[in-house]
Formats: sequence, C-alpha cells, structure tokens
Amino acid sequence: MEWTRQQRYQSYDHYTAQQLLELQSQAATDPVQVRYHLHPSLGLLNDPNGFSYFNGQWHLFYQSFPFGATHGIKSWMHTVSEDLVHWRNLGLAVAPDTKFDSHGAYSGSAKAFGDRLFLMYTGNHRDADWNRISYQVGAWMDKDGQVTKLDHELFVNPPHFTELRDPQLLVKDGHYYALLGAQRTADKTGVADLWESDQLESGWHEVGEVDLGQSDLGYMVECPNYVDVDGRAVMIFCPQGLDHQTAPYQNIYPNMYLTGQDFDLTAPRLVNPDETLTNLDEGFDVYATQAFNAPDGTAYAVSWVGLPDTTYPTDDHNWANVMSQVKELHYRDGHLYQTPVEAMADLRHTHHATIFTGQPTVIKEDAGQQFELQVTIEPNQAGTLTLAGDQSLEHGVFLNFDTTAGQLVIDRAKAGQPVAEDHGTTRTLTVPGHQELKLDIFVDHSLVEIFVNDGYKVATLRYFADQAHGQVAFTNPTKATGTLWPIKPY
Ligand code: FRU
Repeated sequence: MEWTRQQRYQSYDHYTAQQLLELQSQAATDPVQVRYHLHPSLGLLNDPNGFSYFNGQWHLFYQSFPFGATHGIKSWMHTVSEDLVHWRNLGLAVAPDTKFDSHGAYSGSAKAFGDRLFLMYTGNHRDADWNRISYQVGAWMDKDGQVTKLDHELFVNPPHFTELRDPQLLVKDGHYYALLGAQRTADKTGVADLWESDQLESGWHEVGEVDLGQSDLGYMVECPNYVDVDGRAVMIFCPQGLDHQTAPYQNIYPNMYLTGQDFDLTAPRLVNPDETLTNLDEGFDVYATQAFNAPDGTAYAVSWVGLPDTTYPTDDHNWANVMSQVKELHYRDGHLYQTPVEAMADLRHTHHATIFTGQPTVIKEDAGQQFELQVTIEPNQAGTLTLAGDQSLEHGVFLNFDTTAGQLVIDRAKAGQPVAEDHGTTRTLTVPGHQELKLDIFVDHSLVEIFVNDGYKVATLRYFADQAHGQVAFTNPTKATGTLWPIKPY
C-alpha cells in the first residue's frame, strides 16, 4: 500500500479501536513474526530509544509508527524487562502531541536521576508550509511510567546544521552532555556534535563538533552513541552516505564503530582513535544501535533489525521490523566482542537438545524456525550449513564456510521471499584460517543472529522462508560438534 503524506501524518486519534485491533492481530499472527525477540505489537518499529536501567528494571523504548508499515508520524513505545531477554510491552509512552514534537517524537536516550527517568529526544514540528523545525526536548517519567514533558525546548537547532538529532544524554563531573548526529549546512557533510548544560532542563550550549579522526562521515550522522567498554571508549554511529572507499559496507546505510583511548568531552574528540571504521554487524539488516553502561558499568547494545528506505515482505501484513537481542559488549586484545546476555540461555528447551559430534550431515530434519544452534567446525573443512532448509536443501539460509581459507559467506538468495537484493544477497566474513570456527546461531522465524568465534564478529539478517522449511543440515559430512536447542517462546 502506498501511503500519502496526509495519511502518514494523520493524528493518532484518527484511528478507530477496530482498526487497531486488526493491526494488532496482523502483527501477532503473521507466521514469520518473531517469538523471542522484541517486535512491534502493531505497525512499524525502528530505532531503539531510551535504553536504560531505572527503578529496578531494564527499560527499552522504540521508535514506532503504530498504524502500518511506513515511516509515518513517530512516537516512543515502552517496554520493560527483568533480565534483558523477556520484554513486556507497556504501550505508548511519548506521543507526538506538543508543539515541539507534533510531527514526530524522534530518537533519543534516557537516564535515571533518583526516582525519575529523564528522556531526551528530538521533536519534529512542521509549519504550515511543511518546513521542518527540530527541537531537542525533554520529559520526566516517574516510577508509574507516567511521562510529563517539559513545557519548553532544551535547544533549537542552530543554523550551521541542517539536521541535528538523536541526543544521547551523558553525565560527567556534574555536567550534562548531549551527543547528537548532524549534517553541516555549509557542505552537507555528516558529523557528531556535542552540547553541554549544568542544569539539564535548561542552559544548553554547543561545545562543538566531535573529532573522530575521520575526514569522511558521509552526508549525515545518525544515532551516535558513546559507551565505555572495559575501559575503552567506543563510539557507535550511522554515517549515512559514507564513501565505500572510506570503509567497505554493503547495506544501504552502515552502522559503524570506532574505538579510542578516551572520549574527551571538553575539546570533543575520541583520543587516539582507530584509523578505520568497522561495521558493527557484518550481516544485512542492523541499524541505529543504541548502547549504554549499566549501573555496574557493563556495556549493553541493542539494534533495530531493519534499515531505512528498505521494504520488507511483512509490509504487506502492515507491520515491519524487529529488535535484535541485547548484546553485552567487551573489549579484549584490541577488539570489540559482542555476546548474548546470560539470560538468553534460559530460553533453551534443554530436555529437547540435539547433540551431535563426528561427521554429521543432517543435524535436525525438523528443527523449525525457533532454536539456538551452537556449532564448532573443525579446521580445514569446507561446505555449507543450511538453516531453514527444505527437504532437498535447495532452499534455505546458506552458511558457506571454508575453515582452511578462513571465510564464512552468508547467502540468503534462496531463503524465501527476497529482501533488498539491490544490496547483494551474500555477506562475506573473514575468519582466521586453519582454525576451528565457532558459531552461536539464533533463529527466530524470520531473524537469524550469528555470533562468530565467541562474539568476535556478529552477523544479523532477516529471511522470509516458507515456515515448513525447518531442516538444519550440512550438505557434506563435516567434522563438527555442537548442540541445537529448541527455544521457548515468551
Ligand atoms: C534513524 C532515524 C533517526 C531518527 C529516527 C526517526 O533510523 O532516522 O535519525 O531520529 O530514525 O524515526
């Protein structure tokens, strides 16, 4: 369905209960709907927002257009969790209902202060001539989940940026900082920008552009996030329009990171940063990752599994996109690792585990679409591990490995309904040659997350297979050991 601008910006009150129930049931009953990942209860989900710990719970909000699979007028939906795995959807938290966010409550972050959570985000307003005016705005959420917006903006975008959005609120030495994504007016290039205040609810001023040691950050930076990972400063962001010479990527827009010794907030810069940008995820569909340090210092990240300007087969069922699982971040031996959180293991149906060793071909004929597979492939093996395979293994998500050369090629060309084929149907990961290859794979109906070598690399993808295609098998006998656990829904 083509949405007109008028339809996309229709007020939330316009929709009837009947329509909402219908949309809800479409999202809930679609066979390809994920069962153990956070997903929209209706309509479209995009960026994770306000990922935080508050009042004894994890909070994760997300960008939502609740009325269909299009980027219409955005709000924040609110979810909570006790273990970072089971999420309860509490519904609409930040509606587009003030003069500052009337045309969209865009992305932002959250931080707990005493018994309240402060939400900082970008509000969009359109004037009668449809000119966009963006504001950075704030709201307090109390322990009952009641959100009260400030009656004034925190700051208005200065003229030297055409775009400034997605504030990440940081606190250091009694000062409040906001890290934002921006586009410079002068040459339409992308940059991250830092603001500061001593009062939070007012007194914001620009500190300046953040020097990440890169001359090219494309035409717009979205969703910048700073996080401390085991003492290393990590900057995660989406440099839209990045030159492929600067850093290779295949997705329409990249989600990249840089690490450095420190994030200097006074003369904003990443100190001694990496020379080159690295893809945070080497799969097909990760964007707008949000990371934060929990009260105990642990760094967690979560991503939108979906991309801007991309259509997905579920659009026809009026819902779109899912959230990745939450990952724990670590920095070891000069490298960023991403691993599942501990509670993911609670989802395993341990009584129904399939354990394999020797030289298996078929691991499980009817594994279905809801399982975790841990597999270690011995050195100097080449072949294909198929997920969501049909009987003949002609269809499925193919993981073509070569542990001699050190390569893993993920191929979704024959998985089912196509997605974003213009941007390629394979992704190639380089792994150490002549060594074993360890994979921890999570399959959830239309989502695959692959952790390679204990989280040294991660690759995430959507796939849209016939749900009857539930075979997991190697095409040739392969020296491998591992376990497949069916996963409990929640
Ligand atoms: C990234 C993004 C953000 C913006 C939000 C709007 O996907 O474009 O920059 O705040 O989505 O939904």
